[in-house]
This record gives sequence, structure tokens and C-alpha cells, in this order.
Amino acid sequence: MSDTKVIIQLSDLHIASSGNLHDTIDSLDNVSQILEVIEGLATPDLVLLTGDLADEGHPDSYKRLRPVIDGFSKKTGIPVMYLPGNHDKRPAFRFNLLDLDEDEQNTDQILWCGGLRVIGLDSTALDGPHGEFDDAQLDWLDAELNKPAPLGTIIAFHHPPIPGPIDAINLIILRNPERFSKIIEGRGVKMILAGHTHHASAGILGTVPVWVATATAYQIDVRASDSGFLRGIPGSGFSRIDVTNEGAFATHIQMLPGDQHLYNIDLEQMKRYFTEKASAGAMEEAFAHSSAGE
Ligand SMILES: [Fe+2]
Ligand SMILES: [Fe+2]
Repeated sequence: MSDTKVIIQLSDLHIASSGNLHDTIDSLDNVSQILEVIEGLATPDLVLLTGDLADEGHPDSYKRLRPVIDGFSKKTGIPVMYLPGNHDKRPAFRFNLLDLDEDEQNTDQILWCGGLRVIGLDSTALDGPHGEFDDAQLDWLDAELNKPAPLGTIIAFHHPPIPGPIDAINLIILRNPERFSKIIEGRGVKMILAGHTHHASAGILGTVPVWVATATAYQIDVRASDSGFLRGIPGSGFSRIDVTNEGAFATHIQMLPGDQHLYNIDLEQMKRYFTEKASAGAMEEAFAHSSAGE
């Protein structure tokens, strides 16, 4: 596992230009709380932000967000990749987060974590909230994938290239993913990372695994979708993607209030019980001696 690279993915931050989102959610504070958690983890190799970074594309949203993220990056030395979503506006996004010209050019980009290539694509469309790639973007991707990447490639963008359980969101996922799928097939792409849906899910495009991260700002209630509602509910989470020599795995991490736990057993203690006394009785003993939850 020595070549493992860890990507922390935050999606759908929906930073308001001022005040709270929907009058209740401090979406910037949600991000700060997650960054505090990340600081306590073994050092990740990249913090990846997969779109809808602003709630309405207002420059002030980016001006509020950037010092928080860049401050974290400076303090920890962890690089950051900013990608846009349908709630972002390209000119303001480019100017305020990427120091690029304030225009409508896409924000496709590449960042290397050692031998791992992370390609960030701009899946936003100028004429609606759906996702799309134009031919020039796909030509560029095709050419880039010809270059070797010893640990493989991760491709990240906002709009999932696969459907999910919510009909309303399926109307605005990535359109016409066929050419994209054909280009990446058999090219060492270990995982596609997306967001946009505000709930975690996984799937496959061709033979490439797809991970869809939930939102840091608020969740979409999958339970309401069968009744025909698109329902937003409070809640926040982020993802951790471990990329190994052999493949990759993604993990959803839910943000929970307080520090509650049912048990909290030391790894060395668990190894001892698993290897020396692997029995139901030994496990019960481990739980009994673990620190109690609050
Ligand atoms: Fe979103
Ligand atoms: Fe979105």
C-alpha cells in the first residue's frame, strides 16, 4: 500500500454570498467543520472540490470560500483542485478561485499526486443546469490519456455520467456520455468522481467505477423521491478516495453532531483478538473494555 494516494472530495458546498443558505444552513461553517476533521486524518494528497461551490455563482461566495480553502491548503501543504458545477458562474469562478481571465472558457485542469494523474473536467453547460462535454474537451482528454501515468488516472467533474434514484435529478446529469465513455475505456482510469446529487451513490460507466459524493451543504432526501418530491434536508458529509496500485476505493464520511460513539476499540487490541483469540467471547471482552461512548 506504499503508493496509496488519498483524495478528500468535498462536493456541492453551495456557499451563499452572505448569511445562511435557505435561512438556516451556514454552508461555509459546514466546510470549516469538515476541514477540521481532515486535519486530524493522515495527510491526504489532494482536496478535490467537485462543483456547486457557490449557491448562485456570486463573486462574494468565492471571496468567502477561497480564504478558508487556501488557508487550509497553506497550513497543511495539501493541494486543492476547484471544479465548477451548475450553480457556479464560469467568469466569477475563474477569476476568484483560479486567478484566470473572467471569461467563459472551461476550467479543465490536471494535477499530479506523485504518479497519480487527476484530471478535472468542466462539465457545466452554458444553456442549462445539465452536464455536457464538447468535442474539443473530449479531444483534449483523449490526447492526455495517451501520456503515461504510473499510478493511473482519476477523472473528476460535477455531473454524474450515470443515473440515480431521483427522477428530477436524472433530467440534469451528464448528457450523451457515450463518447466520453469510449475514450476512457481501457485507458487506466481507476475511478470517476462526481457530485451534484446531494446523496452518495456508486455505479459503473462501461467498466470504470463511478463514485458520486454527497454534498457538504445539505442533503437530498432519497426517501421522498418515490412520492414525487425533490426534498432538501439538513446534513453534511464528504468522501475519501484511496487510490492504490491495484485499484481504488471510495468511502462516504457522514458529519455527525458531537462526539458520540457506541464503542471505540484500539487497533492493536482488535488485531490481538482477531489473530490470537478469534472467538465471540473474546470480541465481547474487547467491547466491554473499550472506552464508553457518551
Ligand atoms: Fe448542488
Ligand atoms: Fe449541481
